[in-house]
Amino acid sequence: MHWKSLAAIAAIPLAALGAQTLVPLEETEPVPELATYMGELQRLTHKLALSADAGNFPLVEMYTHESLLQVRKIQAEVPEYEGQPVALLIDRMGLPAYEAIQKAVADQSDDPAVLLPAVEQIVQSCNACHVAAQRGAIRITLGTDKNPFNQTFEP
Ligand code: HEC
Repeated sequence: MHWKSLAAIAAIPLAALGAQTLVPLEETEPVPELATYMGELQRLTHKLALSADAGNFPLVEMYTHESLLQVRKIQAEVPEYEGQPVALLIDRMGLPAYEAIQKAVADQSDDPAVLLPAVEQIVQSCNACHVAAQRGAIRITLGTDKNPFNQTFEP
């Protein structure tokens, strides 16, 4: 449930609910769910991989940009999660993995074969960080053998 809806519930006089035994909710800082942010990053990474596999430079450029926005959003909004230094780990292990794809996009190389290995580096960094953050069970793959989206990635 969104914290704002929780606040709205807390504002209803308890007597009106006929529930005198209820204790009012304490005012606490909302804790963002890292998994939701990661799910969005997963979606973008999957589309990035499918675009790279299809050799589609404009789409690769777009999903690289969107992925980086999401990664920075995670750093800003969930810098720490359950004791894991998320922002710091992203600085050390996450962001450097985007250098190869950024270079490939900047070069606009005429060889689309450079794209997929560059995305592979990103996927490896996802998994390295999951291990570092005690989440080694979450293993990301390129996922290029099948396109589950109602979208074509062909150039
Ligand atoms: C800080 C290092 C870190 C990096 C880098 C990272 N993750 Fe995560 N990820 C986590 C942590 C920690 C969790 C567990 C969150 C929780 O317990 O709620 C997680 C959870 C997930 C989940 C599970 C949530 C779900 O919706 O199923 C997915 C998927 C995921 N990450 C995908 C990715 C992808 C894709 C990348 C790379 C593009 C990535 N992550 C990079 C730390 C990281």
